[in-house]
Amino acid sequence: MDKAKIIDGKMVSELIKTKVTAQVSKIKAAEQRIPVLTIIQIGNHKASSTYIKNKKIACEKVGINCNVLNYLDTISEAELIKIIDELNNNAEIDAILVQLPLSEHINSEKIINTIATKKDVDGFTPKILGNLMLGHYNLLPGTPKGIMALFKHYQIQLFGQHAVIIGRSNIVGKPLANLLINASATVTVCHSQTKNLTTLTKQADILISAVGKAKFVTASMIKENAIVIDVGINWDEHNNLCGDVDFENVLPKVKMITPVPGGVGPMTIASLLENILYLYHINQT
Ligand code: GUN
Repeated sequence: MDKAKIIDGKMVSELIKTKVTAQVSKIKAAEQRIPVLTIIQIGNHKASSTYIKNKKIACEKVGINCNVLNYLDTISEAELIKIIDELNNNAEIDAILVQLPLSEHINSEKIINTIATKKDVDGFTPKILGNLMLGHYNLLPGTPKGIMALFKHYQIQLFGQHAVIIGRSNIVGKPLANLLINASATVTVCHSQTKNLTTLTKQADILISAVGKAKFVTASMIKENAIVIDVGINWDEHNNLCGDVDFENVLPKVKMITPVPGGVGPMTIASLLENILYLYHINQT
């Protein structure tokens, strides 16, 4: 494998975690209250349980307290709103994360909008997303933030480059498109209704896939020497973790690529840790 081409998200995330650990150690040394993240999980969605476990482990490793509140998926919207309201008013809690997706009977937008902006560690509330669009970056959603950090670390030029994003979610596609536009890239956002997808992806200097389908992006969809960012977290037919990109066949063609695991995933978690600390500091003042 051509290691020089691999964007090592695990390594970059460790650099970030070292900084976070140092900051938490300072807080502990000053005998101040330790930062606290509360995660709300509804039901027992397989992927969500894995993500939550990883988030909790990451918090504990850097010295942040993380508690997970798990509710049955029969919980009503009103009950969930009441729980979030209580967390909003609890001065001991710095950051609230409601793991998505939620059950069908719950309106996710309504639930997200209940989270106080000052505790919105995902950056999914309207004010934060509006600020992002305008180029004011106090706190950014974890995955787009993590991807931008990878571009910075590897000095990947965005200015004037054509970035093609596959996926228009509020979590990844839309915020990332705005960040890239603000960084002077030319951005195309593709989605499930896009016609002639390959014609567009083949124009990408930077291709970002956030689709959620194993081996969705094949070598024939990629321009020679492109940079490929794989946001997908899927399981293949052998139940192995894999991304959206047919990695083995795409690798010879690209300039750089993120692997799965070890690419974007660890960066999302590192960004979450940074966001918890950011909220801790604004809530302390
Ligand atoms: N589900 C998939 N990704 C995320 C994320 O970044 N945050 C939350 N809350 N739910 C998710």
